Amino acid sequence: MNTVLEDSVAGPGLPAGRGQIELKALSMSFGQGAARVDAVQSVELVVAPGEFVSIIGPSGCGKSTLLNVVAGFMPPSEGQVLLDGLPIKGPGPERGVVFQQYSLFPWMSVRKNVEFGLKMQGVPATKRQTTARTLLGLAGLLAFENHYPDQLSGGMKQRVGIVRALATSPQVMLMDEPFGALDSQTRVVMQQILTNMWQRFRLSVLFITHDIEEAIFLSDRVYVMTARPGRIKAEVAIPLPRPRTAEMMSSVEFTQILHKLRNLIREESLAAMGHELDAGGLEGFATEVGPTGVQHLV
Ligand SMILES: Nc1ncnc2c1ncn2[C@@H]1O[C@H](COP(=O)(O)OP(=O)(O)OP(=O)(O)O)[C@@H](O)[C@H]1O
Ligand SMILES: [Mg+2]
Repeated sequence: MNTVLEDSVAGPGLPAGRGQIELKALSMSFGQGAARVDAVQSVELVVAPGEFVSIIGPSGCGKSTLLNVVAGFMPPSEGQVLLDGLPIKGPGPERGVVFQQYSLFPWMSVRKNVEFGLKMQGVPATKRQTTARTLLGLAGLLAFENHYPDQLSGGMKQRVGIVRALATSPQVMLMDEPFGALDSQTRVVMQQILTNMWQRFRLSVLFITHDIEEAIFLSDRVYVMTARPGRIKAEVAIPLPRPRTAEMMSSVEFTQILHKLRNLIREESLAAMGHELDAGGLEGFATEVGPTGVQHLV
């Protein structure tokens, strides 16, 4: 690995000791009075240094809210968010963030996008360039360093997003459905790239996904949230060995965890939708449509 990069990011073999996230009795609500929405309630969650932790839960249960609080984009309504024992007071370079929507600057080349955070930190141009080129090389994107985001595929844009988040040497990566917009083949490749980067840089990762198999494949532990207001419903360890392989996904152990998580999620998704649909809406799915189609329902 390049020596410049070794100064700035933990390389292989370096001990992981930092990057612990702790949420203590964290609650988050929006609005006031009748318009008040309790998004998450009394959440207790830990990500140990170097650990890969996923959160799954029904739509609207507060996953993005949690991540935004850890990113420092908004203060918690109640409770504490700690990074290595200290309260988080705002965004910081030790936390890299990757969203589902590609958030690259369209007017900057790929390399300039990756260099952006380093520039903000006052890193000299030569070192910025070397760091960006080394990371782009690891992600297989060096040939595209002078391209603009519009000229890249979705998977490539998201790889640039990950590389950009890694450039400032974060101890923690916060990822909100980063592969949600990608097709399944690209997704598998991205999962592999992410796992490689995570192992290489000894990061702590807090990862949000709707995809239960993705959560199992990537994680050391998975938290399952309840329907809104989101609480922690279950915490499931994933004791599969590393490195994870595609074959493991058809193993008995994988399948058992999948069933367990699916059942937990199903209960909560029904609860979440039940708030929005009337009873007839849910019963309707079991109604036989018959030769007259859906007309008899209306
Ligand atoms: N800035 C905000 N102002 C008001 N309400 C908000 C705000 N952000 C989130 N909410 C509400 O908080 C709840 C949780 O939203 P959040 O986006 O965290 O859910 P989510 O679990 O990420 O959902 P999804 O899986 O669909 O992405 C929702 O009811 C949402 O409407
Ligand atoms: Mg979300």
